[in-house]
Amino acid sequence: MGLARTRSLRDVVLILLGATSMHLASVFMGLHDHNGSIIVNTQVSSHFLEDLNNTALAPLDVEEPVEREERTVQKPFETESPPVVDIAYDFPETTIVSHAPGWTVFRNLYMSNGTLYIVSSEPSFAFPDIRYITSTGLAAENTPENIASREPTRENMDFLTPAQARERWGGAERTIQRNRIWSVEGNTFLINEPSQFLDHYYHLCAELMLGAWSFWSGAWNAVVDPASAGRTTAPPVHRMIFAHADAYGWRDRPGFNAYFLRAAFPSLTVEVQQDWEDRIRATASASAPQRAWHFDTVMLTDRSAAFRGEACGSRTQRIAAAAFEHAQQAHTLARWWWEPVRRSVLRFAGVDEPTLEIGVRAEARASDMELAGVAGGLHRPQPIVVTYISRQGARRHLIDEHHEALVSALTEMCAAHRWELNIVQAERLTKEEQLALAARTTVLLGVHGNGLTHLIMMPVTPISTVIEIFYPGGFAHDYEWTTHALGMRHFAVWNDTYHTAPDTPRVDYPEGFQGTQIPVYPPIITQIIQDRIAGRIP
Ligand SMILES: *[C@@H]1O[C@H](CO)[C@@H](O)[C@H](O)[C@H]1NC(C)=O
Ligand SMILES: *[C@@H]1O[C@H](CO)[C@@H](O)[C@H](O)[C@H]1NC(C)=O
Ligand SMILES: *[C@@H]1O[C@H](CO)[C@@H](O)[C@H](O)[C@H]1NC(C)=O
Repeated sequence: MGLARTRSLRDVVLILLGATSMHLASVFMGLHDHNGSIIVNTQVSSHFLEDLNNTALAPLDVEEPVEREERTVQKPFETESPPVVDIAYDFPETTIVSHAPGWTVFRNLYMSNGTLYIVSSEPSFAFPDIRYITSTGLAAENTPENIASREPTRENMDFLTPAQARERWGGAERTIQRNRIWSVEGNTFLINEPSQFLDHYYHLCAELMLGAWSFWSGAWNAVVDPASAGRTTAPPVHRMIFAHADAYGWRDRPGFNAYFLRAAFPSLTVEVQQDWEDRIRATASASAPQRAWHFDTVMLTDRSAAFRGEACGSRTQRIAAAAFEHAQQAHTLARWWWEPVRRSVLRFAGVDEPTLEIGVRAEARASDMELAGVAGGLHRPQPIVVTYISRQGARRHLIDEHHEALVSALTEMCAAHRWELNIVQAERLTKEEQLALAARTTVLLGVHGNGLTHLIMMPVTPISTVIEIFYPGGFAHDYEWTTHALGMRHFAVWNDTYHTAPDTPRVDYPEGFQGTQIPVYPPIITQIIQDRIAGRIP
């Protein structure tokens, strides 16, 4: 047998690859870097695999490069649906559907031995810098060493050409042996952040999930028709993988996180760190050739990467801000984008349909009145419901006498206007009672704290309001940012003064912030409520 005839398929790949990389080198001279985004304005033949298939059928002793058709390379940022590819024999290339710091929707992402791989015939610089995609997933502390230790390395995310992927995970003879890649089908949310914040109702539901849902809906330009009860065209989420949190790492003590996730996504499969480790081990056994998982469509989220971006890192400290603002600026966020999630949770809690409709109905009435030219009309929901979440039983709370004075002032005001008033200590209510209350609340009021997270379940009407009492001088964006992202108005109260957007104070945690001596001057609270309901503060 002649030398040429024993040439293996791999040699053919290498010959082809040699030819192709020269081709790539020459065409990529034309790359433009333009406001940090990279535009590939060229045509390259990159579908080696089909070429290979042709080659395999041709005599193997050809010396000249095999003739190949020119095809358009798939851009890393996707503009249309990718072709269906048989992963048994092909390595579909990784593309990005949408990206913001800390939030990236990929198609065809691979994982082997704990490393996420982008398989592409594009050069790595055609993709976003990986520090804006992922991190080592370690918990965050504010020290230079810790910040450095969260920078991702090639062990966290790396690039392979399709030929390199084939070399690692391809069948030896593609006609008789399939690739060693196994598809994780459907849509996966891969959460790379550690449990540091995840085991908290606010951080999981009002931050991670709110961000995730805005980014996911925006990535697909999902349409939400208010008339069809908050249904969305966003693709379903099949699984969530908490790569760095165990079964208790994403659950909060009161149990809202699990309740919320199961209610919002009843068929969601949750995998945790141990499951991710199983997947890692399954790809890197010492006694078998390497394998890889192929993720069909995956949204990768990373807290540290989000903080490296401007929206989260320098402005809001909210990972959801990076996601939400990206979708908003891309004009891909539907008016009622959060409504499908909110309604699923509230329906699960037993809230009736008319209550779920409060927000959509109030807005429709407001726009009818605007069309009819009714100036300064009352576009307010009925009934008006004021809910004060008392924290007097918790660590951070009002001066006792101020709490009592506030309760009397609220009682008097609500009686005079025939508004409903609820004064609750959330921990004394069941989850259903808390959610049912949030679902009909017009004005939610309380000292800075987790109880205000229920604002994500409020109906969004033109007068919906969140009033957050801080120790004077103190401020944090948590509930303020979230309130505004949902289209409601937030007031930060410092005893007898208040701040509202765009006049928001700078973040500060002065002495007394966490204490039991937080003052409040009740007339400022009743004034805000009456002004909002009368439409005097739009
Ligand atoms: C490879 O070749 C076979 C035989 O011609 C054909 O049926 C198959 O569709 C080809 N596969 C690809 C990926 O082109
Ligand atoms: C898997 O990764 C670890 C480091 O995370 C490394 O020590 C090990 O050698 C790798 N295994 C294989 C089979 O590549
Ligand atoms: C709170 O405001 C009231 C009314 O202006 C004032 O009398 C009181 O001294 C203030 N309390 C604190 C602690 O600033």
